[in-house]
Amino acid sequence: MEEKSSTQFVNPIQVEFHSHLIFGVDDGCETIEQSIEILRHFEKLGMRKVITTPHVMSDFYKNSKENIYPLRDEIRKRLVEENIQIEFDAAAEYMIDDGFEKKIAAGNLLTFGPEGKHILVELPFMTEPRNFSSCLFELQIGGYIPVLAHPERYLYYANEKDKYHELKDRGVLFQLNMLSALGYYSKPVADAANYLVNQKLIDLVGSDTHHMRHMQILPEAIENKTYKKVCEAELLNNYL
Ligand SMILES: [Fe+2]
Repeated sequence: MEEKSSTQFVNPIQVEFHSHLIFGVDDGCETIEQSIEILRHFEKLGMRKVITTPHVMSDFYKNSKENIYPLRDEIRKRLVEENIQIEFDAAAEYMIDDGFEKKIAAGNLLTFGPEGKHILVELPFMTEPRNFSSCLFELQIGGYIPVLAHPERYLYYANEKDKYHELKDRGVLFQLNMLSALGYYSKPVADAANYLVNQKLIDLVGSDTHHMRHMQILPEAIENKTYKKVCEAELLNNYL
């Protein structure tokens, strides 16, 4: 009830950095038309910049700069043609799998952030991978800043919350999915999202948009009280 009497909430986030808008390379957009439609919606939501993050996995999605950058450039061209006022770039969402250490050693990773040092990583949903700790170590000695995608979705951490604090103590940044607190994924994920926000463990927020169905729920997510609360913290989005 008190929400209604307060002044209208203006979303302070102007940089969106977790989505799957490079068409045809992962489980996100399939065509450039879909990519453009979503970017048009982001413009309407007040985003000035979108950094999209296609999956990179050693088995399913073998993406790299070589195939991502030309597609990013194609989308940029269309944004100009369609007069959509949004700065568009591409990084990646790297799965921590058996092939990831090799990728770190090879360099040439898709990164983002003011110094190109931030790297978005994700974990399998069932168990923490054996090499996660060593991957973090390799990333950090290589000068990268690891950002863990949607920590609230890994229930093996949600059920053992000390793990969240251990990762934060190691310098891992946390990115909350905007749809999580709504209960879009599940009740335990929503509970974990609330925990992370209340503990002030969140550094960035992201939409993890794959398709228009996600975009359609985003306005509701922006009105959610957990989202408003996380926005009171010093988030890094607008510095990217
Ligand atoms: Fe994602």
